[in-house]
Amino acid sequence: MRMARSLVSRPYRRRWCRQSLPLFLMLTLMLSLSSWLPTARTLPADIVRKFHDPEVERMNHLVVDKNTGRVFIGAVNRLYMLTPDLAIFQKEVTGPKGDSTACSMLDCPREAQKRPVDNVNKALVIDYTTSRLISCGSLFQGMCTVRDLNNITNVVQEVKEAVVANNATASTVAFIAPGPPNPPVSQVMYVGVTFTGNSPYRSEVPAVSSRSLDKDKMLNIAEAAVTTGTRMYVNSLSRERYPINYIYGFSSKGFSYFLTTQMKNTETPIYLSKLVRVCQDDEHYYSYTEIPINCTSDERVYNLVQAAYVGKAGSVLAGDLGITAQDDVLFAVFAESDGPNSDVPRPFSALCVYSLKAIRRKFMSNIQRCFSGEGQRGLEFISPSHKCISTVSHFQRPNLAVAASPTCMHNHIRRRHRRGDTLARYLGKNEEHYTDVRTARNSTNAKHSEIYA
Ligand SMILES: *[C@@H]1O[C@H](CO)[C@@H](O)[C@H](O)[C@H]1NC(C)=O
Ligand SMILES: *[C@@H]1O[C@H](CO)[C@@H](O)[C@H](O)[C@H]1NC(C)=O
Ligand SMILES: *[C@@H]1O[C@H](CO)[C@@H](O)[C@H](O)[C@H]1NC(C)=O
Ligand SMILES: *[C@@H]1O[C@H](CO)[C@@H](O)[C@H](O)[C@H]1NC(C)=O
Repeated sequence: MRMARSLVSRPYRRRWCRQSLPLFLMLTLMLSLSSWLPTARTLPADIVRKFHDPEVERMNHLVVDKNTGRVFIGAVNRLYMLTPDLAIFQKEVTGPKGDSTACSMLDCPREAQKRPVDNVNKALVIDYTTSRLISCGSLFQGMCTVRDLNNITNVVQEVKEAVVANNATASTVAFIAPGPPNPPVSQVMYVGVTFTGNSPYRSEVPAVSSRSLDKDKMLNIAEAAVTTGTRMYVNSLSRERYPINYIYGFSSKGFSYFLTTQMKNTETPIYLSKLVRVCQDDEHYYSYTEIPINCTSDERVYNLVQAAYVGKAGSVLAGDLGITAQDDVLFAVFAESDGPNSDVPRPFSALCVYSLKAIRRKFMSNIQRCFSGEGQRGLEFISPSHKCISTVSHFQRPNLAVAASPTCMHNHIRRRHRRGDTLARYLGKNEEHYTDVRTARNSTNAKHSEIYA
């Protein structure tokens, strides 16, 4: 619910570019508002329904079934299935349960002290191929359960694998996209996880991995050989002091991406945002690459990505970005660091828009620079840094950032950024974004150019 936090945590002016945010985020925002904000003051007037459970301290994830419109919510100690108009359909209690980080997935040392621990939902994804809901929580080293999408009380599989982050706050991002052995036919679950050093077992959990969705090897690393496979670890020397926060993940044109915030390098505690990319048909993650992504206006550097969404451009935005309406576009909300070496965001946020075409070009030119021997290949937090030479250059020094200036900003800019209007209009033309919001907003007019409340 980071999006919600970055956008609504202040009393807001009515002229921010709320409309430009994709719909499921609006719904997310609405759901979360009810759970942790004083309601009346910040609820937009055009919300027609809301869902609220006074028992629940926090809702973490939301997915909408694209076929039935049902809404699934992963919360602390709860899992819900709601009807498309947000009536409760099924509810599962998932915690607290007796746990200890000293226990592995399979057994517990005798001296381990188990105590009741909250189960914070860390990942919630729908596997449409098998009609399953995969839900992962912070308990039991970050374990996942596979449930029947039509009856979430029916647990089809409990997967004895450490998959997600195992404490209340460390980040996890998961999404399903094509992957080995036979993409695009075969699908895997991509997972990005912040390292938590709270148990000896965490060194076995990759920072980024692709996990199988086959029943017989459910959530195992999709392809694993002795030294390679569909997984990437932060090396043991760096992982304690080089935290990587995973914010969002998506698939586009044969690649899977994660948006992260992390330090500039292992020596420099300056935080920036990076895009991580792997090729979907790469069984060894040799193609693992990172580039910085930045969002800067004349006077401010919005260095920390808070939330994002990938969608189709739609015709007007496409014209502006020099792409086609069917091309993918990344919308990302950024905040400034609260102080030079801080990863804590300030309340000001800005929305930047990037075409995936430009992002692919930037990856390509970085890789080419590395192949031609320029710079270091970087990523010393994964393995010792080498100079870029053509034989070892699957990774490269992040020389070139993919950059944009904010399309709209919240809380400190009102009229100056005219582009805010146009963005919202572009998005408004793209019908696809609006399907989930039917229930969330009374705004058929939002489909057109009325952007601001
Ligand atoms: C859902 O699954 C549970 C557990 O398998 C079962 O007891 C229950 O009858 C199912 N409910 C429906 C509506 O099918
Ligand atoms: C979870 O782990 C991260 C990484 O080690 C740490 O920074 C954070 O404080 C931990 N959160 C809690 C609630 O223990
Ligand atoms: C953002 O990216 C542009 C283009 O690569 C670069 O010139 C600029 O210095 C970057 N800004 C920051 C703050 O990283
Ligand atoms: C929805 O919006 C229309 C037009 O803005 C307004 O007339 C109507 O009263 C609204 N309905 C609700 C339930 O707010």
